[in-house]
Amino acid sequence: MISIKVILIGDSGVGKTCLIQQYTSKEFTEEHITTIAAGDKSFKEVKVGEKTLKLEIWDTVGQEKFKSVNKIYMNQAKIALIVYDMTDQNSFNNLKNWYQELKDKNDSVEIIGVIANKSDLYEDKVIDKEEGENYAKSINALFFETSAMDYESVAAVFEGLAKKYVEKKDKEDRKREEDEQKKIKLEPSKHKEEKEKDQNYEKGASIRRSNIF
Ligand code: GTP
Repeated sequence: MISIKVILIGDSGVGKTCLIQQYTSKEFTEEHITTIAAGDKSFKEVKVGEKTLKLEIWDTVGQEKFKSVNKIYMNQAKIALIVYDMTDQNSFNNLKNWYQELKDKNDSVEIIGVIANKSDLYEDKVIDKEEGENYAKSINALFFETSAMDYESVAAVFEGLAKKYVEKKDKEDRKREEDEQKKIKLEPSKHKEEKEKDQNYEKGASIRRSNIF
């Protein structure tokens, strides 16, 4: 099974902890208990076609004064969810800072989702869907609207991003195979030479190994 690290980032109060809770336990809490220590992780398996992915989902700290602890947790994440609250203009304005932070502290992220949360508070909405979509497009991310009270909307995010991740990996694998095939076709002798070199090296290595033991 493939294990993938997923992180949620965004301002304090946008609903990161609630989104994770809804997705992993189908629960929602009204209370806002500020996350002050990143490093809490939850797990959930998701099926994409024939493949099963184990998502290792990390919560992070939104509050500015505690934010420095996020640094080490952002590392190695392959999927990132940048969350804003659609009823809070500041949380939307800060997306670019979160994105920059992500880029500065993580060079392994492959798939990004921009999440407009609290869609149940539709009447208080201050950010239009189009604005969110445009921002997501500008950083080559997928866009989702969620309510942490509604399981389906939350599951669609994790499933959509996991699917995109698998598609990207499959595409890269196919491209590698095609390039390899092209190399064989264009330079069969060179390819044969390289292969023989590899085989000879392996033979030498096994002799070296047998000498050691
Ligand atoms: P920090 O831990 O401080 O970074 O905040 P957070 O982003 O983890 O926010 P949290 O999940 O604790 O949610 C903050 C508040 O928003 C809580 O009172 C939640 O009940 C509320 N909340 C979260 N998501 C939603 C939502 O989709 N709709 C509504 N109406 N409230 C939400």
